[in-house]
Amino acid sequence: MTQTKTQLSSVDRRRFLEHTWQTVGAGLSVALVSGRGLFAAPRLGANPFTLGVASGDPTPHGIVLWTRLAPEPADPASLGRRSVPVGWRVATDSGMQRVVARGTASAERWLAHSVHVEVEGLKPGRDYFYQFDVRDEESAVGHFRTTPARNELMGQLRFAFATCQDWPSGYYTAYRDMLENDLDIVLHLGDYTYEYGISGITGRGIPAPDGFSEETVDLRTYRLRHTLYKLDPDLQAAHAKFPFAVIWDDHEVQNDYSGLAPEWGSPSPEFTARRAAAYQAFYEHMPIRAKVARHPGPGLQIYRRLRFGTLAEISLLDDRQYRTDNPCGDGEALRCDEALTGKYTMLGREQERWLARGLSRSTAKWNIVAQQLLIAELEHTLPGYPDEWYWQDAWDGYPRARTRLLTDVVASGVTNPVFLTGDWHSTFANDLKVDFKDPGSPTVAAEFVTPAITTGGDGTPYGPYYGPMVPFNPHIKYYEGDKRGYFKATVTQEEMRLDLRFVTSVEDPHGTGYTERTFYVENGRPGVL
Ligand SMILES: [Fe+2]
Repeated sequence: MTQTKTQLSSVDRRRFLEHTWQTVGAGLSVALVSGRGLFAAPRLGANPFTLGVASGDPTPHGIVLWTRLAPEPADPASLGRRSVPVGWRVATDSGMQRVVARGTASAERWLAHSVHVEVEGLKPGRDYFYQFDVRDEESAVGHFRTTPARNELMGQLRFAFATCQDWPSGYYTAYRDMLENDLDIVLHLGDYTYEYGISGITGRGIPAPDGFSEETVDLRTYRLRHTLYKLDPDLQAAHAKFPFAVIWDDHEVQNDYSGLAPEWGSPSPEFTARRAAAYQAFYEHMPIRAKVARHPGPGLQIYRRLRFGTLAEISLLDDRQYRTDNPCGDGEALRCDEALTGKYTMLGREQERWLARGLSRSTAKWNIVAQQLLIAELEHTLPGYPDEWYWQDAWDGYPRARTRLLTDVVASGVTNPVFLTGDWHSTFANDLKVDFKDPGSPTVAAEFVTPAITTGGDGTPYGPYYGPMVPFNPHIKYYEGDKRGYFKATVTQEEMRLDLRFVTSVEDPHGTGYTERTFYVENGRPGVL
């Protein structure tokens, strides 16, 4: 599909004006024409808020507000060495008249002039609006809602969860669809950016922008990659309208890496430095509370917990940073004896303990665990395949760690555990069991694997490959491998309702969303309905 720039210009400008929560300014829509024109836009006056605004990780009294000054998006160094004071305001109205908190933050060169403001002192369960300013320039107005007080009986929690938004695969139709809702939060389960070089005609029907043909490997290229993604108007609009809670998967660094081991090969100083650069760029572009040292160390803790009154607790995990390298090799492989020794970990011992302790102490009615990789067993039972053939990058490559995880869930006695998963570019609804090989093993939790926002575009069907395996894995209650979209969840005291929203297309800029199917988890009854 090839479209002219003129068509895209008008389409993008219209979509931008229709769907952005508050417009960023007419100049930006020119910059968003995309393709080679993406970074060749005029200097946008002096407005440095080209990447939009975001909020994240709400608490009853606080929020993280984010922006990054990028008057020339193609040049992360355009502001030079100086620190820039950035004003911020929080108000109770979208017109920003009734201001309840304000201050000044410093955008520092060493963090690419990003700003993370940790606001405190707000009221629980309230809607707020926020805006940044530098000199006479103002950012878009963003919106967030604080969480209810810890002991409040929240009537309903509404959220979406998303994953895998490869920019060249297509448009963020799913985010545009998400904007029709009133959500308390959006959970992003990773693959927010992809490291691969971008070339040729993209799934957006436009040529790859200049300067992206190589894989990201250092701070400069990871920053530019985040910049490219953040220029998308639908993504900006979603960030402006909803607070996000974001965790990474592999592609924010490199495909299928484990801990300090790259996809292929062993740990090395080069890969350690590359991962540190990727983690820093991630921090610089996300509304998260993580602390980064002035000279970035190799790690960055992103596992954490959100609480929504007594209704729900959401534990967000990190399946990448602390895990041991795949015991039986990468990709698809036979399960080897080594995997059964118990030496191997997906979360690392410390995070495992943190999760187990959190679950056992939780008093929330719904205990949601948001993480990256498929937990349910998916034995690749196909003609010509030997028994015990699995995708080793997911929890199938770490079977003893999975048994510990699910045993901890049972031992904690926690009510209504539900796992939310990304990564697979497919949709699953699964019953989780401590022993998947035993059909009599009780279901201990439900797992929902959310489809990709874009990755794979409109034309990379997984269904014909994985679909025939599913009947041999009867705990998988639903599988779809060919559609892009996301899940929308509504949690009440009685049930968790999950609307699977697919999109008609990510390659057509006019794609729309629709509900493919609705799933339920009932209070007190583990598993998928
Ligand atoms: Fe992905």
